[in-house]
Amino acid sequence: MRIVILPTAGEAVERAVDLIAAQLRAVPHSVLGLATGGTMEPVYDGLIRRHRAGLEFAGATTFNLDEYVGLGPDHPQSYAHYMRERLFRHVDIDPANCFVPSGLGDPAASADAFEALIAGRGALDLQLLGLGANGHIGFNEPGSSLGSRTREKLLSPDTIEANRRFFAEGETVPETAVTMGIATIREARSILVLATGHRKAAAVRAMAEGAVTAFCPASILQMHPQVQVVIDAEAASELALKDHYLRAEEIQSAREARR
Ligand code: GLP
Repeated sequence: MRIVILPTAGEAVERAVDLIAAQLRAVPHSVLGLATGGTMEPVYDGLIRRHRAGLEFAGATTFNLDEYVGLGPDHPQSYAHYMRERLFRHVDIDPANCFVPSGLGDPAASADAFEALIAGRGALDLQLLGLGANGHIGFNEPGSSLGSRTREKLLSPDTIEANRRFFAEGETVPETAVTMGIATIREARSILVLATGHRKAAAVRAMAEGAVTAFCPASILQMHPQVQVVIDAEAASELALKDHYLRAEEIQSAREARR
């Protein structure tokens, strides 16, 4: 894991935007795995700004991590709606190449269809991941099989609570979601994790320095050879080896600057 600690959330977001933009410039036909949640909102704002400055999305294909079961693409809290409003309709991507699991119909059929679509496009080039405060990735909650494929998952009470802020008062937060599996995520060629704020500090530590365990699904990323974890100082605050990561990054970025 390459752990990049930046002083502020704004700088962490900007670095994530840089990395996604660099991927698209290097491989215009990239297959990107995308994430939702509050952390990603400024990332999509940044990508829209880059698009206005010339970054093209026309060749890209995207697969989103997850979708709430029961919410159709026009529901304002669905992730399909989130992606359309926050990114897709602002850039030159072909909507026919933007895939979000369907929250409607039979969840098992939706999951299988999504998994087949990803397989049909080959591997994901870059998977963007946020981090749940309980260590979830996508909606793979603690206890998820580390070998799982796309399927329906029951959300933990913590996650339902954390995501309630996005729903109107009195509205019910769905209890299940269709999510890419952990094995599906692991097959991405490279992975970028973005986490900011104190609320994520314990999960960041468990992900990067804890045991590899289904209790913290993100910890499986320790087994992946191409992972960058971009975090701000608050999210890094519980890391035991923080000084080591800072020093390693200083050396690494000096080397990159010389190339
Ligand atoms: C959500 C999403 C995840 C996201 C995470 C963190 O429930 N399913 O993909 O990364 O939880 O969300 P936030 O960025 O709002 O903290």
